Amino acid sequence: MDIPEEITKLRKPEYDIEPLILSRWSPRAMSGEEMSDKELFPLFEAARWAPSSYNNQPWRFIYAKRNTKAWNSLFDLLASLNQSWSKNASALVVVVSKNTFDHNNKPSITHTYDAGAAWMALALEGNRRGYVVHGMQGFDYKKAKESLNVPDDYTVEAMIAIGKHAPKETLPAEMQAREMPSDRKKISEIIMEGSFK
Ligand SMILES: Cc1cc2nc3c(=O)[nH]c(=O)nc-3n(C[C@H](O)[C@H](O)[C@H](O)COP(=O)(O)O)c2cc1C
Repeated sequence: MDIPEEITKLRKPEYDIEPLILSRWSPRAMSGEEMSDKELFPLFEAARWAPSSYNNQPWRFIYAKRNTKAWNSLFDLLASLNQSWSKNASALVVVVSKNTFDHNNKPSITHTYDAGAAWMALALEGNRRGYVVHGMQGFDYKKAKESLNVPDDYTVEAMIAIGKHAPKETLPAEMQAREMPSDRKKISEIIMEGSFK
């Protein structure tokens, strides 16, 4: 995979890494196209293969495709700022994770961590296939739990907007300036040898 110029201009990795990891980013401009199951489900397939503690696979994905009955029930959960751009998404997803292990019903300390790994696999596969995959925490978690019938032993983790990338000029004016791949902290700021420093 070639790394697009919009990425190489702005992202300067300290070491050579898999191009897909560097190329993934979270645009907001999406085309408003519909998405078939054949196009959407491979992203869930990628999520399936994430690692998890005891292979418990605690991730669950509640999805809605645009122009379907389910769309409004997910779209209505979003904060208005997120609605202003994700109205052009092809699919919305609520990521949920199971708090307990299947094999003994005891609490899993890593269910959220495991669901995070699954979301990243989904995001990378989506990017590989040319989709924008944009995580969101700006939504009503309590309403999501209630209105989507999420059982008590599951946690609502985050939402995702998926769609085909569109020109940034299609965004509300104030969002256009921020529509670019972001940078990261240096490795030296995130690693510590031996103990927390
Ligand atoms: C769990 C999670 C929640 C996020 N919530 C929002 C959100 O509510 N609205 C939004 O516009 N972007 C949201 N983002 C996108 C982040 O701002 C973005 O991933 C971050 O700035 C890094 O940029 P990049 O994904 O383009 O590399 C979220 C991302 C994640 C992973």
